[in-house]
Amino acid sequence: MLKLHTLKIIKQEPVAPGYQRLTLARGIAAQAGQFVQVRASETFDPFLRRPISVHDAAEDRLVLLYRTVGRGTALLAAKKAGETLDLLGPLGSSFPLTDRAQAVVVAGGIGAAPLYYLLRTLKRAGKQVSFFYGARTEAELLLREEYRALATNYSEATDDGSAGSRALVTDLAAPAIASLDATVYACGPSPMLKEVARLADYYGRSCFVSLEAQLACGVGACLGCVVPVRGQEKYRRVCVDGPVFAAGEVFFC
Ligand SMILES: Cc1cc2nc3c(=O)[nH]c(=O)nc-3n(C[C@H](O)[C@H](O)[C@H](O)COP(=O)(O)OP(=O)(O)OC[C@H]3O[C@@H](n4cnc5c(N)ncnc54)[C@H](O)[C@@H]3O)c2cc1C
Ligand code: FES
Repeated sequence: MLKLHTLKIIKQEPVAPGYQRLTLARGIAAQAGQFVQVRASETFDPFLRRPISVHDAAEDRLVLLYRTVGRGTALLAAKKAGETLDLLGPLGSSFPLTDRAQAVVVAGGIGAAPLYYLLRTLKRAGKQVSFFYGARTEAELLLREEYRALATNYSEATDDGSAGSRALVTDLAAPAIASLDATVYACGPSPMLKEVARLADYYGRSCFVSLEAQLACGVGACLGCVVPVRGQEKYRRVCVDGPVFAAGEVFFC
C-alpha cells in the first residue's frame, strides 16, 4: 500500500556547495536502498514528485542527501527547518543482506547517498565492510568522516587527485572484489556500475547495484522508467522492480 507522509523538517544543512542534507522528524520504516517521492512545492508546479533515496533512517528520523540540479531540488533546498515536507514512500527494492561476512561497497558521486544507510545496516549485522568512495573532486566526497566511521576499511579516489588516489574508484575497488569472499554493492554513474558488475561477475561475487532513471509516476504505472534486463522479461521498472537489482540481471548499454 502506498503511504503518504507529511513530515516536519528539523534540519536543512549545506554539506558542500550544491549539496544539502535534510533531516525529517519521524521515521517511515524504510530499508537501505529504498527511496521516497518528494513533493517539492505546495503547488502542482513542478507537477511530478522527485525521487530521493533514503540516506539514513531510524524510528525518529528520515534523512535525505541530495544535489541541487534543477527546479525541484532547488525548491527542496529552499525549505527551512520547521516547515513540512510531503512525501510518498518508502518505495522500491532494498539492498539484500547475504550470508557473506564481508561486503565491498562502491560509491560514485551522489550515488553515495543511499549507501550510508547500507553501511549502517551492514555494520549492525556484524559485516566487515570495505568502502570505496569516488568523486570528481575532494569537495564532492560528502560527509567523508561519517562514511569512514562506518567502514572497516575506507578508501577514496578523485578524478583530479585532490583527495585519495587519482584513479577511477573501480580501479581502487578491483583488488578487493578479486580477493575478498564478499558481497558487492554499488551506486553511482552507469559506467561505474557496469564495471563493478563486470568485475563481480568475473570473480564470481554476488553483486547488487542501485540504478537511476528519470521517474514520472514513481509507482509502477507509467512505464517511464524501464531499463533493459536479461532474460524473458526484457524490461523492468526502476521505480518498483528496482532501484536495486542483482547486477547480473541488468543489461548495461
Ligand atoms: C531511485 C532514485 C533515487 C535518487 N536518489 C537521489 C538522491 O538520494 N540524491 C540526489 O541528489 N538525487 C537522487 N536522485 C536523482 C534526483 O531524483 C534528480 O536529481 C531530481 O529528480 C532532479 O529534479 P530537479 O527538478 O531538481 O531537476 P530537473 O529540472 O528535473 O532536471 C535537471 C537536470 O537533471 C537531470 N536529471 C533529472 N533527474 C535525473 C535522474 N533521475 N537521473 C539523472 N539525471 C537526472 C535532468 O535530465 C536535467 O538535466 C534519485 C533518482 C532516482 C531515480
Ligand atoms: S516511473 Fe512510472 S513506472 Fe516507473
